[in-house]
Amino acid sequence: MSRVIKVFDTTLRDGEQSPGATLNVLEKLEIARALERLRVDAMEAGFPIASPGDFESVRTIAEEIRTVTIVALARAVEKDIDRAWEALKPAARPRIHTFIATSPIHMEYKLRKTPNEVLRMATEAVRYAKRFTEDVEFSAEDATRSDPEFLCKVFEEVINAGATVINIPDTVGYTTPSEFHNLIRYVIEHTPNIDRAELSVHCHDDLGMAVANSLAAVQAGVHQVEVTINGIGERAGNAALEEVVMALKTRNDFFNATTLVDTRQIYRCSSLVSALTGLHVQVNKSIVGKNAFAHESGIHQDGVLKERATYEIMSPEDIGLTANRLVLGKHSGRHAFRKHLLELGYDLPEEELSRAYESFIELADRKKEVSDRDIEALIRGELTAVEDLYSLDYLHVSSGMTSIPTATVRLVREGQVFEEAACGDGPVDAAYRAVDRVVQMDATLEEYQLRAVTSGKDALGEVSVKVRVGERVYTGRGVSMDIIVASVRAYLNALNKAGSDLMRQLPKDSVCE
Ligand code: KIV
Ligand code: ZN
Repeated sequence: MSRVIKVFDTTLRDGEQSPGATLNVLEKLEIARALERLRVDAMEAGFPIASPGDFESVRTIAEEIRTVTIVALARAVEKDIDRAWEALKPAARPRIHTFIATSPIHMEYKLRKTPNEVLRMATEAVRYAKRFTEDVEFSAEDATRSDPEFLCKVFEEVINAGATVINIPDTVGYTTPSEFHNLIRYVIEHTPNIDRAELSVHCHDDLGMAVANSLAAVQAGVHQVEVTINGIGERAGNAALEEVVMALKTRNDFFNATTLVDTRQIYRCSSLVSALTGLHVQVNKSIVGKNAFAHESGIHQDGVLKERATYEIMSPEDIGLTANRLVLGKHSGRHAFRKHLLELGYDLPEEELSRAYESFIELADRKKEVSDRDIEALIRGELTAVEDLYSLDYLHVSSGMTSIPTATVRLVREGQVFEEAACGDGPVDAAYRAVDRVVQMDATLEEYQLRAVTSGKDALGEVSVKVRVGERVYTGRGVSMDIIVASVRAYLNALNKAGSDLMRQLPKDSVCE
């Protein structure tokens, strides 16, 4: 019988700490729903003390997601734990996750505390968290550079104080698979009460070994792996959920361990996280990269046609990647559209469905046949939409080799119409300047990416941007057959997010250690 390894997803906490990734509350909720469909065991929804936005996200997710354990992070201090509990209270299955560093370098330079003080803080934090909930996880930050004897002492004491999960993080991505395996074995053999808690690992990818280290830990006997979708996270990121899960599934003969994840949701979840964070997945990324199932060489194609298993160790359907069929046209009704979305795995609420259907009709009017990939791009567009402060009503751009690029835009805000024109270095620049004249938000474009959703001259263009407004960076996405329209939609999407934050006065405070 295979052991079942629990999957603890931290996309919304450690993943969101990726440079350049910022998610608002609605986007986090959308990802939380996708993680629930993916059937992870636990999701870390945020670090409530870090900012009012983080607090609100954890609270909103705790209110809505009922079938997954919701985790909130807290340093080993009472005010963090109070705030974590305040946010977690409505959860059906709440878990407080408290942490403190145990390595000599962190204790001496960052915390300026002696090992005994750290031991006391860890124990008191767990005991304090237990007042609120039965389920308390303790992490020894920088465990892989800690003295193993001290580590076991801390674990023994926090288990006595009530910790139900003990996490061993490789915070700086320093360890190697065999070394990590030995450390886990050491902890199991030298912590007398270890059988009273579940053992977990949390690996970073600084040396590209996060997944290998997590799998080595599974072999050594841990019960839980902490991972993120697409491996996003602090610096080089965390162990990628899809890689760990598919390795356990594909090599069950070797690991004799499995997870409860519905792997057919992996592709959809990966695309959503990539669209909402603006962090694109590299084409050769394992499992979810565009080329992961593409066979380029003739020998491989020939082999796969004769017998798939010659060159494919997993099937694309296992991760929910269906063939890109040309499916619907402008005469397909709303009912057929909805039915097709359900087949693709999207069960949209009525309002989102109506907006998606409108975009589909608009697209089908210009493109003879709309494919699955087109539809998925439109859906991602709907999911990234926020309550529109400004919507694009009209755009005219003139540019060319001998003319000065000029754009005229008409935007609508609460029924009021605003029109502006501007010149720029190119058509996108001109259009963005015209938008700036209306919106007047002091925005700086920090990143702009354009890609075609499918091949072919009539492909949809998908633009993602990062726009700085004050202290915060906002991600925006826009989809259209016209790349300038897609560009303006993406820019407006980011500005609308900034506008809604400004109206709610939600600054992103920095976390002070
Ligand atoms: O990497 C790390 O050590 C962490 C802890 C807070 C678990 O993210
Ligand atoms: Zn981490």
